[in-house]
Amino acid sequence: MSYEDLFTQLKCHGQEHLIKYWPDISENEREQLAGELRKIDFVEMNEIFHRGMESSKVIAEKLDDDLKPIPQSHYEAVPSLSREKIEEYENIGFREISEGKVGVLLLAGGQATRLGFGHPKGMYNVGLPSHKTLFQIQAERIVRLQKIAEEKTGKEGKITWYIMTSEHTMAPTAEFFKDHSFFGLEEENIVFFEQGRLPCFDFNGKILLDEKYQLASAPDGNGGLYRALKTQGMLDDISRRGVEHLHAHSVDNILIKVADPVFIGYCLSRNADCAAKVVQKSSPSEAVGVVCRVNGHYKVVEYSELSDEAAERRNPDGRLTFSAGNICNHYFSSEFLKKISNFESKLKLHVAKKKIPYVDDNGVRKKPTEPNGIKMEKFIFDVFEFAEKFICLEVARDVEFSALKNADSAGKDCPLTARQDLLRLHRKYIREAGGIVKDDVDVEISPLLSYGGENIDDLVKNEVFTISPFHLKSMEESATNGVNGANGKH
Ligand code: UTP
Repeated sequence: MSYEDLFTQLKCHGQEHLIKYWPDISENEREQLAGELRKIDFVEMNEIFHRGMESSKVIAEKLDDDLKPIPQSHYEAVPSLSREKIEEYENIGFREISEGKVGVLLLAGGQATRLGFGHPKGMYNVGLPSHKTLFQIQAERIVRLQKIAEEKTGKEGKITWYIMTSEHTMAPTAEFFKDHSFFGLEEENIVFFEQGRLPCFDFNGKILLDEKYQLASAPDGNGGLYRALKTQGMLDDISRRGVEHLHAHSVDNILIKVADPVFIGYCLSRNADCAAKVVQKSSPSEAVGVVCRVNGHYKVVEYSELSDEAAERRNPDGRLTFSAGNICNHYFSSEFLKKISNFESKLKLHVAKKKIPYVDDNGVRKKPTEPNGIKMEKFIFDVFEFAEKFICLEVARDVEFSALKNADSAGKDCPLTARQDLLRLHRKYIREAGGIVKDDVDVEISPLLSYGGENIDDLVKNEVFTISPFHLKSMEESATNGVNGANGKH
């Protein structure tokens, strides 16, 4: 396409400034820029800008009058369920796993800015005795689940792991898995795909240039999942493999019960198309979104959208009325995901004013010290309102949720807390299985040995754990990785 054609086309949409530096750039750079521009639907982008600006105006409104908690009929809490009920759900989940109907959607496209780690967050090692990374821990939980499913049903369990990456995380993530032989999983059951990006705009709707030959853009948020599932052929892959249930979650929860059979069984037995695991808010001021109903629609209401009165309101039993803390941990039926791909363009846009490096009118690249434009993101939970049967499962925070967001200097949601939370949980599993371990002894249980505290009785009963740190490994790991922390005497 000639410069003139490009100019005419861009001018129609008020974006002709994007080729202002055409005369200054090399032939290769022109090709790169033209390639980027060709991929953009400018009608859609201008609409996105206006929709984003509109939605950012209503964000400040408090929603109290329209807010209702999740009805009891749509809510169960694992800590209050009987052992029989949990087993009932779990057995359904294992049955589905053994039939190859369960998939995991891992959200691994984030930039880990707060953590300040220059690699995909899943490659982070929080300093456990085993030094396993988040990716390895999750992979090994899948290995273990497949094994349990086989033991329980006699049929080989198979979980398909869909890993959503972004432009920056795709190559290093795929390489990391390859370098680690897919952590013992079948390569064909791991599917990497890439989420999209959205341009960054100035406050007047002009797309910013990051370089004279490159637009400023950012990943389209974890809600970019829905578009990527469609455009990257994942919906077809899901159908082809016969996957019916998808457990979607963030990469940074070290306690994540990947492909949780209890959650799958709960959702299936309630015929849900979409569901959220939640934890009870720790206090009214905890800055976490709450799952609730707004005008009859299920939504996550951000902490900033809740008035103090609503945040502090309590039920007669003393529990916070709006206590269902969202932890980016969801269930989707494959049918629901297919349906959502048609609503994707209606998803809310979350707007953030940011300091975005840009090329100014004189062709100089600037790093602004004040916000100069907006980035827009879609959030995974904004599809709840399209569900026909939405339910919640409350889980215990100390068993299922500890997020890695920040560097240690923040003192919360950081490598130290992630490590401590996992080791605390593993001490609890050991004690429940009859072992003796003091609070200052760090024992990590390999996910290859135990997914959720099962399968360790014979190893820990009446054992006193004194060596710290200690890695309680599976037989296979002990055989291949040597003696330190091997099972048996210590
Ligand atoms: P966060 O919003 O916590 O972002 O993502 P982050 O990238 O991990 O960290 P910061 O904000 O840059 O410090 C929650 C989950 O959503 C994924 C992340 O990888 C994480 O698992 N995510 C986020 C995506 O997959 N894509 C995105 O565009 C954004």
